[in-house]
Amino acid sequence: MYVVTGATGNTGHVVASHLLDQKKTVRVIGRSKERLQPLVDRGAEAFVADLNDQAALTKAFTGAEGVYAIIPPNATSQDYRSEQRRAAGALAGALEQSGAKHAVALSSVGADKQAGTGPVAGLHELEEILNRIAGLNVVHLRAGYFMENTLGQVGAIGAMGKTAGPLRGDLKLPMIATKDIGNKAAEWLLTLDFKGKQTRELLGQRDLSMDEATAIIGKAIENPDLEYVQLPDAMMQPIFVQMGMSANVASLILEMAEALNSGHMRALEQRSARNTTTTSFETFVREEFVPLYRAQTKAA
Ligand SMILES: NC(=O)c1ccc[n+]([C@@H]2O[C@H](COP(=O)([O-])OP(=O)(O)OC[C@H]3O[C@@H](n4cnc5c(N)ncnc54)[C@H](OP(=O)(O)O)[C@@H]3O)[C@@H](O)[C@H]2O)c1
Repeated sequence: MYVVTGATGNTGHVVASHLLDQKKTVRVIGRSKERLQPLVDRGAEAFVADLNDQAALTKAFTGAEGVYAIIPPNATSQDYRSEQRRAAGALAGALEQSGAKHAVALSSVGADKQAGTGPVAGLHELEEILNRIAGLNVVHLRAGYFMENTLGQVGAIGAMGKTAGPLRGDLKLPMIATKDIGNKAAEWLLTLDFKGKQTRELLGQRDLSMDEATAIIGKAIENPDLEYVQLPDAMMQPIFVQMGMSANVASLILEMAEALNSGHMRALEQRSARNTTTTSFETFVREEFVPLYRAQTKAA
């Protein structure tokens, strides 16, 4: 039996689906029975729990061959770093008490750094706390920049006719589709062929800058002159808040962007077949970005 946290989310639903495709018994965790229902329809067992609830998680993890563990994001948190610490503590406590022997945890490029990386510092702490559990075999998947982050650019194009953000336009980033992360995590869980504490970077199909990503988006939406503009933090902070983030989360995202721009936060592994995944940004844009863009343009 496998347990998947964040099972209705970007990576978790892919992990759960992949395991179900392999006819595995899967317990899926989320806060809503209704949202878990599509996975239940495919044979999963729903387990409604909050990821801060260590006692519930201990129950959920008991008897698991492998656990997929994430810290859920919360864009509206007033103190996201404390929330991350609480969720990491609950996950770690539950893994320890349940006696689970294998876990695959979602981390990030840059989680080697203790501080100065915004929300990624919380993933550093998650790695550390899981690494302290004797007898737990754990792989921390240090994923690159989610391609899904660029979906926010649909709004920027609508409002300004440009894509925009705090990142340098020419900064090459390992960009990865979240479905590739989910599939890799499921592969680790299916083999359970790992011992001790390990980290593995997942760098997507290739490195891309925001300038290059914008050119790909522009071509796909028939706006070949589409440009990316780097905006200063003082402009980005209220934009993030207007998009629905708390001021606290907006500041953390800006700290992370600064860490990427300066190179404080960067991939440590050389690109190789092992850390490269298949979905190109062109495919992501065709399958995810363009439909969202078309729907929003139609609605406007
Ligand atoms: N964005 C990036 O570039 C990037 C890069 C590397 C790593 N990461 C990390 O990736 C993680 C997010 O992964 P993801 O995109 O797969 O997640 P996601 O799509 O945001 O999904 C998380 C799921 O967790 C559930 N959830 C939220 N709060 C919960 C709570 N309190 N208790 C129980 N379940 C809860 C939600 O489902 P319900 O609402 O149905 O409960 C949600 O579907 C974060 O830790 C982030 O730091 C992000």
